[in-house]
Amino acid sequence: MNEYERNLIRCVCKNDVERAKQFAKLILSANKAKSNEAFCADMLRQLETKELFELPLNIQGLLVVEDPQETLNVNRYYLSDEDGEIARKILQLSDVSQKLADLGVNYVNSTLLYGESGTGKTTFGKYIAYRLGLPFAYLNFSYVISSYLGDTAKNLAKVFDFIKQKKCVLMLDEIDAIGMKRGSKSEVGELSRIVIGLMQCLDNLTSDTVLIAATNRMDIMDPALLRRFTIKHEITRLYQWEQEELIRMFFSDVRVPIEPSVIQDMASTEETQAELMNRMILYLVQKFSREGV
Ligand SMILES: Nc1ncnc2c1ncn2[C@@H]1O[C@H](COP(=O)(O)OP(=O)(O)OP(=O)(O)O)[C@@H](O)[C@H]1O
Ligand SMILES: [Mg+2]
Repeated sequence: MNEYERNLIRCVCKNDVERAKQFAKLILSANKAKSNEAFCADMLRQLETKELFELPLNIQGLLVVEDPQETLNVNRYYLSDEDGEIARKILQLSDVSQKLADLGVNYVNSTLLYGESGTGKTTFGKYIAYRLGLPFAYLNFSYVISSYLGDTAKNLAKVFDFIKQKKCVLMLDEIDAIGMKRGSKSEVGELSRIVIGLMQCLDNLTSDTVLIAATNRMDIMDPALLRRFTIKHEITRLYQWEQEELIRMFFSDVRVPIEPSVIQDMASTEETQAELMNRMILYLVQKFSREGV
């Protein structure tokens, strides 16, 4: 046993989790064995995730940071073939952008998700963070705009300044709230300035950030803003057989047996993923109410 390992055990015995993490990092970083390489990289990423949870005071309330390992239950997340394809591309680009960064070339892995409400755009962003073992940093534009319109440009600059130094998946949700076409009828001078400010912020990101934006108003997005995203992907409703699979996953995870005929009935209507999720929860509520649990 080496000194780091002894210190790690000492800290665990004293319940000093923060110092234990420091020693765990030292042990992982010192690993030379090829067979442990993937494990060490994964654990180091997870340990780094925790560090982002301390947001500076000036951006608390604007940005929400969470650990997707804790907040996303992958056993209940159904990844369609189309979304899986895009997820693979994003994960691959994340490796590529790291390699390019080592060569001094800055390349930001950026994806714009679009599609109707409730199809799982935000959840997909969280899934990507989960797969990368990175923190999920979430900024909702409609909230920022409605609460702080006059200060939005300044607030965005603060958020991006902070994010620039962090390895994370940055999700810009409901980006259409400011991404409207400049010069269109609905143009408001202030919003137009915010769009320009946002584009400057995006241009200054580094390859440490995996950027994912989401909108359900692709039709009003500013073309110059759209150009900032390498991948544009529509998230759609699931086919019936995919819905059936989601239902099976959900009920197996909550350990409630469900008849195949009930699965078929549940999946047979045209619903978004959010509506389907509500229906499954309602089914549980009714079942438990009937059984008097
Ligand atoms: N692929 C999926 N597998 C399992 N559940 C899903 C999936 N996609 C979405 N859901 C469920 O639907 C809910 C709504 O999804 P989400 O909020 O990600 O949709 P959205 O497209 O971001 O909607 P909006 O445009 O209104 O923000 C989630 O909380 C989750 O319960
Ligand atoms: Mg959303």
